[in-house]
Amino acid sequence: MPEETIRLIVTDMQGETHTLQALEGWRAMEVIRDHGLPIKAECGGAAACATCHVYVADAWLPKLYAPNEEEEDRLDEAFDVKGNSRLSCQILMEPNLDGLEVTLAPGSEP
Ligand code: FES
Repeated sequence: MPEETIRLIVTDMQGETHTLQALEGWRAMEVIRDHGLPIKAECGGAAACATCHVYVADAWLPKLYAPNEEEEDRLDEAFDVKGNSRLSCQILMEPNLDGLEVTLAPGSEP
């Protein structure tokens, strides 16, 4: 049986869109970093730095788990936070997120 394909669609700071293959259970931040796109992700995924800030396309927001208190606190410290801001290290890729669209946000550039 072929492995389930999960795609993560990332728009970079230049407005270019990249379709990345993701594996189930990986964090969106790790997928972005492993494909060589510029993302700082300074704390390595511990929800401690907010340098993995992304904007999630509105249609996808209801499919994500709501941010926990730790993520909300970090986002309070990030730049240009919007209603669709999330930390990409707190988004776990799963089959129902196939096609998830995110845009790299200010403060995430290395
Ligand atoms: S990598 Fe630091 S908060 Fe996501």
